[in-house]
Amino acid sequence: MGVVIPATDETWQRLQALSTLPRSASSAYWQDRRTEMAMQRTGDAITFDGLYSDVPEAPGWLSPGRLSWLRRLVGVGDARDWSEHPLTLAWRTRLHALPDPRLASVFSSYDLAKAEDTAADLPDGPILEIGGGACLVAAAMLRRDCQRYAVIDLPESMAAGFAVLRWLFPAINIALPGEPNTGARVTFHTPDSMPDETFAAAVNVTSFQELDPPIVAGYFVRLDDWLVPGGRFVCINRAVKTDPARNLHAVFEDYPWPEGWSVLRDDEPLISRWSGPMTTIRRRVIQKPTTACAAKS
Ligand SMILES: C[S@@+](CC[C@H](N)C(=O)[O-])C[C@H]1O[C@@H](n2cnc3c(N)ncnc32)[C@H](O)[C@@H]1O
Repeated sequence: MGVVIPATDETWQRLQALSTLPRSASSAYWQDRRTEMAMQRTGDAITFDGLYSDVPEAPGWLSPGRLSWLRRLVGVGDARDWSEHPLTLAWRTRLHALPDPRLASVFSSYDLAKAEDTAADLPDGPILEIGGGACLVAAAMLRRDCQRYAVIDLPESMAAGFAVLRWLFPAINIALPGEPNTGARVTFHTPDSMPDETFAAAVNVTSFQELDPPIVAGYFVRLDDWLVPGGRFVCINRAVKTDPARNLHAVFEDYPWPEGWSVLRDDEPLISRWSGPMTTIRRRVIQKPTTACAAKS
């Protein structure tokens, strides 16, 4: 089972064209994972398998994952008890303010809070997202009246993101790769057909952590072209993610962070340690220099 998104016939038909796009080369991890992606028309909806888990938590279930087993292991007041950590408390507060009840019926509070927390670091202006998945950050930004949002993703993953945005924002002009995109407010791109314009900010959330280092390095090189002077890059990824079966070992600190850019923020986002007290997620927000001179210094 996967997530079920209400969808019109038009959305379903447009998604069919994605299967004709070339499958971009990607990381070993995603070459493997992409075979898990599948979509199926089910009545007035589409079921998407592989990208997100199927059952959102029951209402009122607000504790981070693994808390129940952790509580069994440690006593009250033990530092390993994550239930009273500031990040956990922040979760409880923030979850009450989730904005769109339609999304809460489909996605877990983890995914929704992750998106809202990410969007809070994005400025007004055109946004580029690398690895958008279900486009929950895009949804948050469109609700904030963002007029231009571009998403780069693999064709098989962007299907869910497209369906989510078509469902939530039926009146917005959204273009898939290969469709006419003049004037489109949201455009989807593959790693083989990257956007060729500038943005106020770029964002990557729990995605670089699953890409091979040369692919991540390629994105960092392009960031300089994509961002306007003073533009920012919001990067939220696991401190370390290792999956030997998929040849994955990604280290946040080892990304090729550009020299001469300001670091606006370097901490842990709301979702850090949700999967367990040792599963650290890092957030770094960097800003491109406002002048070419500053970039060289
Ligand atoms: C774990 S999902 C995260 C999705 C979303 N950012 C979120 O937080 O819910 C990782 C995303 O990275 C995308 N991805 C994989 N390889 C990519 C590549 N070479 N370029 C851009 N995105 C890629 C996947 O298709 C997927 O949508």
